[in-house]
Amino acid sequence: SMLIVRNRKDLYDFTQYIKAKKLTLGFVPTMGALHNGHLSLFKKAMEDNQYTIGSIFVNPTQFNNQADLIKYPRTENDDIAKLESIGCDALYLPSVEDLYPNGLECEPIKMNGLDLVMEGSFRPGHFQGMATVVKRLLLQVQPTRAYFGEKDFQQLQIIRHMVKTLKLPVEIVGMPIVRESNGLAMSSRNMRLTDDFKKKSIFIYQSLLKAKELSSHHSPETVISKIERLYLNSNLKLEYFTVTEEESLQMNQTFEISKHYRAFIAVFAGDIRLIDNLQIR
Ligand code: PAJ
Repeated sequence: SMLIVRNRKDLYDFTQYIKAKKLTLGFVPTMGALHNGHLSLFKKAMEDNQYTIGSIFVNPTQFNNQADLIKYPRTENDDIAKLESIGCDALYLPSVEDLYPNGLECEPIKMNGLDLVMEGSFRPGHFQGMATVVKRLLLQVQPTRAYFGEKDFQQLQIIRHMVKTLKLPVEIVGMPIVRESNGLAMSSRNMRLTDDFKKKSIFIYQSLLKAKELSSHHSPETVISKIERLYLNSNLKLEYFTVTEEESLQMNQTFEISKHYRAFIAVFAGDIRLIDNLQIR
């Protein structure tokens, strides 16, 4: 059955064992409330590596909103059962002290402006908190490869940038967004949606598909304004909709043939904040 590692010292013994045996180690960091999106990362990690470890840690420093942190779903027993059922080898469940031995302070991590747009501009401090905990988890777990979903595409690009600039010896693997059959991107926050907002939220993915369609005849700017207009008469409150080049996360005047572009969206379904994105070119 799955090994459960509850503190930093036991994790150290575990990593020493992996090293002694020269095993490849896959790592999937999460905040729990696991769904099929998370499980797709674990399954890929188990395919690619001889040993796979996940982590569940609701990282306090990446919540810019205290209420969101308190309300974040915690389903530890279900999470453990799901990971055991797919045959995951180990799970790290650190305490706050294991990751923040000197208090809840973030490290200044360079992001080359990737943190200033979209999620970064609406959630101040979020990415410094996220990057701090991912850096510390990578240093503690010392995996061969670490797995992240495109659901949080801006997070994925920031982690790639951090790993490159800090020369961390790990391969970052990005994985596609797993959706419900109606297109809604799976998220731990979906379980807090009312049935009514769950139905209304299908519109998020539909509007991304519409943006993709529009992008074959229109400039990024025009695509954005046409999609923004769709939300004026919607029950979902649009926080932002934008179209950027994938590497720089910057808006371009025109679509360049040699580059990839992605549409990004954040909406409020009642008081639940949902994000999604889609490669459109
Ligand atoms: P969390 O939101 O739990 O997500 C853990 C990983 O699962 C992330 O890489 C996320 O992109 C991925 N994921 C979530 N929903 C997905 C979906 N529908 N399809 C594919 N992948 C999906 O992201 C975090 O936690 C935290 O910021 C963390 C990296 C753990 C640092 O605290």
